[in-house]
Amino acid sequence: MDLINRPRRLRRTDAIRRLNRETRLSAEALIYPIFVDETLDHIRPIPSLPGQNHYGPDSVCRAVEECLAHGVKHCILFGLPAEKDACGSSAWAEHGVIQEAVRTIKANHPDFTIITDVCMCEYTDHGHCGILHGHEVDNDETLEHLARIAVSHAAAGADMVAPSDMMDGHVAALRRALDENGFQQAAIMAYSAKYASAFYGPFREAAGSAPSFGDRKSYQMDPHNRKEALRECRLDADEGADILMVKPALSYLDVIRECADAFDLPLCAYSVSGEYAMIKAAAAAGLVDERRIMCETALSVFRAGANMLITYYAKEIADAIEQGEIG
Ligand code: PBG
Repeated sequence: MDLINRPRRLRRTDAIRRLNRETRLSAEALIYPIFVDETLDHIRPIPSLPGQNHYGPDSVCRAVEECLAHGVKHCILFGLPAEKDACGSSAWAEHGVIQEAVRTIKANHPDFTIITDVCMCEYTDHGHCGILHGHEVDNDETLEHLARIAVSHAAAGADMVAPSDMMDGHVAALRRALDENGFQQAAIMAYSAKYASAFYGPFREAAGSAPSFGDRKSYQMDPHNRKEALRECRLDADEGADILMVKPALSYLDVIRECADAFDLPLCAYSVSGEYAMIKAAAAAGLVDERRIMCETALSVFRAGANMLITYYAKEIADAIEQGEIG
């Protein structure tokens, strides 16, 4: 057969296949979500997220040490406060659940990166991500509260703050407040293109943050839209974001690719709770090979152009990289 082009030549041996890889993964690019529950002693499994735990304030270092044992060096923290109210005031309390967790982790593991989720839905008694007037989330009033939360996280020692509220102008508000308070070095990882997604279901159960009425469609993005994601990223970039994010990951790989191509800022993708829970459930039903599906989905996010990934599978993906199952 007179064939000049034979792509199979580069698939012939395992070593050549590895040489020919276009996407390379590293444990250094993985971020693990940690849930800290102020009311808890020790550690308790999260029913909606098999294999994940709530950590009490006394146990957050255990979560970090487990990460480090697998080579995972970064976390994003979510807090479950003891008290909620209409304006989420426990979110910026000096001795709030996140503020204390940050101090504890930094005292014991100063080099471990701490990113804090900056939002109000876990702290408000109505479960919305901002201040309500009637049934409307007030954008500009919410910004003041978010800025206060971010400053309190930075004051406790957080390396980065990650506003996940989807209010307009949130990055500018946080940047200004951080700088005014002397936290020029605290980076902002902006949840820039965050869609109003059904994939957050298991998280809301885990974080106790489901809205008590309505939904989040007046602030999170409509899944039909692509250009709007570019616009949201551009606004966050112009307002001073250090890292942009697309969330969820798996159903939005096209958006990840476009944002990666369009901006010169690092891009994070968040493989959210529903993505994790679906793989877990399918594996538990004996329908898929969990380890391989985990690897393939993570790989797809990096191939789409993400530079870093927040995932509940961070420790297992790090192991798979280490063991050469994925590269
Ligand atoms: C807070 C927040 C949510 C997630 C991250 N930060 C929930 C939401 O917007 O309802 C979802 C993460 C996940 O599903 O893993 N606003």
